[in-house]
Amino acid sequence: MPIIAALQDASAAPQPLGVGAVVLLFVVGSLFVVGWSRWVRPMNLAIGFAVTVAMWTLSYVAMLQPGLVAGELLFVAALACVFAGGWVAGRRAPSEASGMSVGLVSATINLMVVGAFLRDEQGGTHLRPILYVAGLYAGSALLGLLGDRLGRRGTSGRPLPAAATLLGAVATANILVMIVLGGLVTSYEAGLAVPDWPNSFGHNMLLYPVSEMKGGIFYEHAHRLFGMLVGATTLAYATTAFRSGVPRAARGLVVALVALVVVQGILGGLRVTGNVTASMEASDLAPSTAMAIVHGMLGQCVFAVAMLSAFACAGALDGVRGSAPGSRWMRSLPIAALAALTMQLFLGAAMRHLQTAPTADAGAKLPAWAFHGHVTMALIAFVLVFMAGRRSAKSVDARPIRALGKGISHAVGLQLVLGIAALVAVLVRRGVEVPWWEAISTTSHQALGALLLAMTASLAVLAYRATLTGFSASSSASNA
Ligand code: HEM
Repeated sequence: MPIIAALQDASAAPQPLGVGAVVLLFVVGSLFVVGWSRWVRPMNLAIGFAVTVAMWTLSYVAMLQPGLVAGELLFVAALACVFAGGWVAGRRAPSEASGMSVGLVSATINLMVVGAFLRDEQGGTHLRPILYVAGLYAGSALLGLLGDRLGRRGTSGRPLPAAATLLGAVATANILVMIVLGGLVTSYEAGLAVPDWPNSFGHNMLLYPVSEMKGGIFYEHAHRLFGMLVGATTLAYATTAFRSGVPRAARGLVVALVALVVVQGILGGLRVTGNVTASMEASDLAPSTAMAIVHGMLGQCVFAVAMLSAFACAGALDGVRGSAPGSRWMRSLPIAALAALTMQLFLGAAMRHLQTAPTADAGAKLPAWAFHGHVTMALIAFVLVFMAGRRSAKSVDARPIRALGKGISHAVGLQLVLGIAALVAVLVRRGVEVPWWEAISTTSHQALGALLLAMTASLAVLAYRATLTGFSASSSASNA
């Protein structure tokens, strides 16, 4: 009952959790997600997580207040995601999933944010939170069920990929959204808008009232909430991957992914507090710019591992057949491109975090070494990525490699254009207010950089496997 009372009264004094209590909550929450993911049918879990990631993303955009009509439409679209999930279950996986269960999965994940909305509901009886949760489950189940019924009316479409592969794709997409959201935190200079962590202004993170999430606080706190969603998605993905008996390499990558997500979350917190403390006192805190650089870089590596693990779950690492001619180049070019992109990532992160903000009369000052290094490395990376992409797109008889090759050779050109746009936007600004066009250009340059790194890393591994297979195929042919 005290929990329910606290949920209902936003004016109640915040009750910060100590570090020990947070660790305990984290362990209990993780065990719950693992146990629950073992119990729910894998396809319901996969579609349910896909639906919820889409809902959260649309709601985030709606909360950016794009105007009354657009905002309301986005919220309606977020609800429609459950209906669409039910439809997909009924049409594309009728024997493996049901729309109602998809709705229930989504409602269970959404419990993570119910507290934040309830804190804004003043008064009422203690029954209100219970009614809220019951309404969430009933509404989600009904929307899923309706979608399912409609989906089953037509002829069933092409079947969905296996649940583990689908969850791999959902986790990868979720981390990409997280990279965009993190980019917005940095672009709007909101990294320290919430001074404490794991609490938010002394509130338990899950109960921080939505009405207080304004301006920089919104960007920073929403990034933290999405971090929880990334954690839950990744754990559900790992549990499903082990449950479905995916190849060994895939299992290894999924375990690495879970570990990296945990480390990434802790680094995000340490960027804010500088040490392990739940205190909000400035004297106890030591925000760390170095940690911001590491957190920004590791975020992109986490994304690359997620993408590679999804390929591995789909069996792409096992079934690649390469052509032996030109194998040496096919193997070394993507590796060289990956090395250049990693260096470029470091230089970009350093340039972003070590710059001096503009004043009313003078533009931003970028550290010269990082600026010159980033521009020079851009040209080297462009050439290497383009060559690796073209070579892979042309020379290999394997669909994922060809697609990745084509993808990176196009993306790297767009990345150059976005880089120039971001640089101009940063240099022309005067004053402390960050204009939307600067935030959009820097964040999209960063997000496309993450996509490029992940695709190149996947290509490097797939091409390596392909050339090995190609060599062994040709050598066994010559031995015979
Ligand atoms: C898997 C989870 C996470 C991912 C993939 C992720 C990713 C990112 C990325 C890509 C950035 C932009 C960095 C840059 O601009 O160089 C960022 C910024 C940031 N993240 Fe995260 N993040 C995660 C979790 C967290 C968590 C749990 C926190 C907790 C406080 C957090 C706090 C921050 C802060 C404060 C910034 C802004 C840094 C600054 O501009 O000073 N992140 N994140």
